[in-house]
Amino acid sequence: MGKKLFIKTQGCQMNEYDSDRMQDLLNLSHGFETVKSAEEADLILLNTCSIREKAQEKVFHQLGRWKKLKEKNPDLKIGVGGCVASQEGAKITKRAPYVDLVFGPQTVHRVPTLYENTSNKDSSVIDISFPKTEKFENLPEPTSEGPSAFVSIMEGCNKYCSFCVVPHTRGNEISRPLDSIIEEVISLSLKGIREIVLLGQNVNSYRDSKLKTKGLGLSNLIRTVAGVEGIDRVSFTTSHPFEFGQDLIDIYTEVPELISHVHLPVQSGSNNILQAMRRRHTRDEYIETINKLKEIRPGISISSDFIVGFPGESEQDFQDTLDLTDEVEYDESFSFIYSPRPNTTAKDLEDSVSPQEKKERLDRLQAKLEQSALSISRRMVGKVSNSLVTGVSKKDPGEFQARTENNKVVIFSCDDQSLIGNFVPVEIVEAKTKSLRGIYRPEC
Ligand code: SAH
Ligand code: F3S
Repeated sequence: MGKKLFIKTQGCQMNEYDSDRMQDLLNLSHGFETVKSAEEADLILLNTCSIREKAQEKVFHQLGRWKKLKEKNPDLKIGVGGCVASQEGAKITKRAPYVDLVFGPQTVHRVPTLYENTSNKDSSVIDISFPKTEKFENLPEPTSEGPSAFVSIMEGCNKYCSFCVVPHTRGNEISRPLDSIIEEVISLSLKGIREIVLLGQNVNSYRDSKLKTKGLGLSNLIRTVAGVEGIDRVSFTTSHPFEFGQDLIDIYTEVPELISHVHLPVQSGSNNILQAMRRRHTRDEYIETINKLKEIRPGISISSDFIVGFPGESEQDFQDTLDLTDEVEYDESFSFIYSPRPNTTAKDLEDSVSPQEKKERLDRLQAKLEQSALSISRRMVGKVSNSLVTGVSKKDPGEFQARTENNKVVIFSCDDQSLIGNFVPVEIVEAKTKSLRGIYRPEC
C-alpha cells in the first residue's frame, strides 16, 4: 500500500504554491498519496508562516498535538517547513525533538531527499539554506485543479520594509527565467487552464535576465503570458506601489486579458508612518498611481493590506489612513495589528500605542473597509459580468461559483456542468458582504 502524506499550510499564497509542489514531488519520488487527516498519515508536513507573532505561536501548538500521534506510531515522520523553519532552524527540533526534518522556503524541492535521510539518521535532518535558482529548476510541472493556476515567477524580497520578516526568511529576490515560465504556462493551457496568477512576494521586481531594458520585466512578462493561446485571464500578486511604473499602468490598455483588479498594499495613509515603514513612496505618489489605473481601466477594483498601531502612529496618522480609504474606495482588503518581528529594524522602536487603542483602530478601519467593499458590490447589481466559473460553490454544492471581471466571487444556480472552467455572462442580482448573487444569462 502507498504511503500517505498530510500537509497543513499556514500563511500566504506562496506557501500554498510550495505545499502543492511538495505534494507533487513526494508523489513522483515516493508514490505518496495525499490524505485529509493527520491521523492517517505516514508523513506530516507543516508549512509555516512567521509574518506575525500569532502565526508563529500556532506552530508549536500544532506540533504538540501531533506529538501524540507519534507516540502511537513511532514510524510517523514529522517535517516543518516555511518561514518559521527558516527563522528558527535547529531551535525547532530543540523545542520539539520529535520533529524529523526542517526545511526552508528555498529548499522545498529537496524534501524527498531530506525525507529519505530521516531513515538513515538518528538525529533530525535540517536544511534551511538559500540555494540560488535551484528551486525553480527542480520543481516538477504543477498538477492543477480547476481553471486557474498559480505560476511562481520570483522568490524573496529585497525591500526590507522595517516591519517585515519576509526578506529575512525567504531571502533576496531571485527571478525565474522567462522561457521556463512560458513553458509552464503553455503546458497549463494545454491542460485546460484559462487563468494564470503570476506569483511572487514582490512581482514588480521581476527581471528577465535576457531583457535589456531595465524595469520592464513584469509588463513584458504579462504581455507574453496573455499571448499564450487559451489563456484568457491574467493577474499578479503581490505588487509594491514603489515599483508600479508607467509601463505597468499602460499594460492595462494593451492587454485586455489582465484582470480588472489590483492588490496594491499601502499599509498606511500617513506619510510619517510610510517613511518609518521604509515603504519608499508617499501617500500622494500612491494616489497618483491609483488614479492613473482608474482612468485607464474604468471599474478596476483596488485592494490593499493595512497595518494599524505601527510604533509612533498617532490618532492623526490613523485618520490619514481612514481618509485614504475614502479617497481610494477599496474592495475587499486585509488589515492587521502591527506585530514586532525578529531581525526587522522596527522591532526595537518604542511601542507608543496601547493594545486597546490598536484593537479599536483595527475595528474602525475594518468597518470602513467592509462598507466600501459592499458599496462596490452594490454598484455592480444589474450589470452583467463575464465571469470565470471556478467550480461548485463551497457552501452549497448545488450551486456554481465564479469570479467576475473585477475578481469578486459570484454564486449562481445552474445545472450545466460543462460551464465549469469557462467564461460565462452572469448578471449580478444581489450584493452580500463577502460575495455576490448572480443569474446565468447565456443570451448576453
Ligand atoms: N509583499 C507584500 C507583503 C507581504 S506580507 C507587500 O509588498 O506589501 C503580507 C502583509 O502582512 C503585508 O502587506 C502587511 O500588511 C502584513 N504584515 C507584514 N509584516 C507585518 C507585521 N510585522 N505586523 C503586522 N502585519 C504585517
Ligand atoms: Fe515585506 Fe515589504 Fe517585501 S512588506 S515582502 S519587505 S515589499
